Amino acid sequence: MTRPTVLPPMLPTVRARPFDPPEELAGDRAHEPIRRLRYPDGHIGWLVTSHALARSVLADPRFSARSEFKRAPVARPSADPFYGRTALPGWLVDMDAPEHTRIRQRLAGRFTARKMKDLRPQLDRVVDEHLSAMAESTPPADLVERFALPVPSLAICELLGVPYAERAAFQRNSATLFSLDVSEAQAALAMDQLDSFLRELTEHKRGRPDDGLLSALVADGTLSTEEIAGVGVLLLTAGHETTASSLSLGAFALLSHPEQLAALTGDPSLADNAVEELLRYLTIFHFGVPRTPLEDVELAGRSLRAGESVTVSLSAANRDPAQFADPDRLDLTRRATGHLAFGYGIHQCLGQNLARVEMRIAFPALFRRLPGLALAVPPGEVPLSTDMGFYGVHRLPVTW
Ligand code: HEM
Repeated sequence: MTRPTVLPPMLPTVRARPFDPPEELAGDRAHEPIRRLRYPDGHIGWLVTSHALARSVLADPRFSARSEFKRAPVARPSADPFYGRTALPGWLVDMDAPEHTRIRQRLAGRFTARKMKDLRPQLDRVVDEHLSAMAESTPPADLVERFALPVPSLAICELLGVPYAERAAFQRNSATLFSLDVSEAQAALAMDQLDSFLRELTEHKRGRPDDGLLSALVADGTLSTEEIAGVGVLLLTAGHETTASSLSLGAFALLSHPEQLAALTGDPSLADNAVEELLRYLTIFHFGVPRTPLEDVELAGRSLRAGESVTVSLSAANRDPAQFADPDRLDLTRRATGHLAFGYGIHQCLGQNLARVEMRIAFPALFRRLPGLALAVPPGEVPLSTDMGFYGVHRLPVTW
């Protein structure tokens, strides 16, 4: 590989404003939609920043998602769960076709928009219970702890058939996995504990089936216990941290854009559109998604070698003016469809319909039940989770 003489910069991660990606991230996107990127291990790879090129890389089977080849674009002692080695059985986000197809096919039918719509009455109840408890208590409170985390946690537990009473351990382990500040040993322990928990639970379901997804996969008989447990860990961790971040960061964004909040509360039919725009604007996968070409590839006039790491920046793609007019403006009335907050291609988020239903219910209900909702601290004091794999807030102190 010919190395550039001047080392290219690393992935910019420092934000000047809480809701905008780092300014240098976009670079000269229109003329250079892919550019050189230095990884923390010294490897020189690539960064994709335009919407069009991000989509084409993510839809291109020459780019692998296998964890063995993945490198994290940001320094983290623990690294992502399986980067550089084989993932857990069932960990489909790190697999290529046909292994990926085999697992995803067993799951896709359980996450359709219709199936998720059927969950609405249950989700309405969960949202209502949490907001009633808040309304009856004395402010201030942390919206993450009281609302944004428990609602998606309960939803994914219900869907999988995981006892919610076990949440203390799996929420702690899941937070450890996505933190940039833990050691490799701590991350490995958290993963082991989650995996053992899901394996035991899967075995338990063999004798006592319920109507959750784990039992359905056991009854289906296609996947091994190890694969069902791996799928379970992935769904459990991806299924609550991500939506929790979107809910709390979304509430912070709405409170910081009163005119947009007024539009939403004035017209609840805006909720579906508002959710798409919040997903686009916030793009919580702030370090992008990694891919690796399995062969040499010519892309937008650049020659990529097999094995070089590619980071597809979903944040940069979702702020591409060639795709979204005035992209840095939060505008709940725009048509934000086509955003890449859920990725694209065969790995496009399996849980996106669940996340959408949760957000569509949660945002209008939050501001309806707590009409005086406001930040309880100055905006600059909200602790942002720049140290996590997903962007969001650690806490959102609110009053009402
Ligand atoms: C707002 C919330 C969410 C966001 C922004 C989000 C984002 C993403 C993104 C960007 C990917 C693609 C990763 C890649 O291409 O490498 C992905 C994949 C995935 N997500 Fe989500 N996600 C969310 C919620 C959920 C939920 C609620 C679940 C579970 C019920 C879930 C389960 C998954 C799974 C299993 C995959 C891997 C799919 C595959 O490889 O085929 N996600 N998600």
